[in-house]
Amino acid sequence: MKGLQLLATGGALPGRVVTNEDLSRQVDTSDEWITTRTGIRQRYCCTESEDAATLAIAAARQALARSGLAASEIACCVAATLSAPTATPSVACRVQAALGLPENRPAFDVNAACSGFIYAIAAAHGLLNTLGGRYALVIGCEALSRMVDPADRTTCVLFGDGAGAAILELAEDVPFAVTLGARGSEAIRVGGPAACDTAPITMDGKAVFRFAVETMPRCLQTVLERSQKTLADLDWVVCHQANSRIIDHCIKHLHAEPSKFYKNMDRHGNTSAASIPIALHEMVENDLLHPGQTLACIGFGGGLTWGGMLLTYEGRK
Ligand code: ACO
Repeated sequence: MKGLQLLATGGALPGRVVTNEDLSRQVDTSDEWITTRTGIRQRYCCTESEDAATLAIAAARQALARSGLAASEIACCVAATLSAPTATPSVACRVQAALGLPENRPAFDVNAACSGFIYAIAAAHGLLNTLGGRYALVIGCEALSRMVDPADRTTCVLFGDGAGAAILELAEDVPFAVTLGARGSEAIRVGGPAACDTAPITMDGKAVFRFAVETMPRCLQTVLERSQKTLADLDWVVCHQANSRIIDHCIKHLHAEPSKFYKNMDRHGNTSAASIPIALHEMVENDLLHPGQTLACIGFGGGLTWGGMLLTYEGRK
């Protein structure tokens, strides 16, 4: 089966910056508590006119422009999100209309919480291999600030909003591997008691921490084995940006080189499905990710779910 390579990225951040100092005026917390426990210093939050779909459209438009492709060349559009403004139309369908993507191609959303972007890439890979076509548009987008209880200090300090988009190309003989998994659990819950309620996020932080430090190194080792690579072959590891300490545990467990592990949660907080594509886009923008480089992306989150992938960047900017 052919693999995917990353061709171009796009990103969009909402207009309101919320610092730890701002939150310490809202709930009983402090900049010191938040930075030492999580590494987060600020996060971007949607203004009234912004939501996960408006951010997704902006990020997707930029990725498509950077790729140099015509909209007609995109064979599928998959958006990962747990905070779409409406269940239907999906974010992906809104992107299809806004960008004028062809109508005879699939467009749909995936919800695998913070692992969603990896799940969406795996879905796009399968679609290109079964339905045909060469290029996929995959987006991760969230407006989690709308789903936290602003009075709950155990969650409102953690999450932020944003979107990242990627154009991927199906190609022969490229390094590519994916691993996905799930373990049904209420450790992170969004919604309920009725199915369509948008009750705020609740989370057993300690249980999720333990789950993350167990899952991330395993995911990374799996994609390395499947692609017959070693950690030394990787230029970058881009983990889900939930908590700096979780990434540090992963580095320690693997005896890895810390400088290979990109971190940006200080500026964005945890943007769930958007965190990995936002990181990829920032790395391209800041000339950190270069054409020909190999990277692994590792996500974990609500569900519980996890996912890892290994691929190369064949950049267009
Ligand atoms: N400010 C100040 N104190 C706080 C805050 C806050 N914002 N939040 C909690 N505390 C208090 C607690 O009440 C507790 O007080 P107590 O000892 O008097 O009871 C104390 O700080 C310690 O709380 P813990 O929960 O034990 O803190 P911990 O060190 O575990 O850090 C954290 C909490 C940051 C949430 C951590 O557990 C974590 O990062 N877990 C993983 C979360 C994650 O990665 N989620 C990703 C998935 S999200 C998704 O999929 C949507």
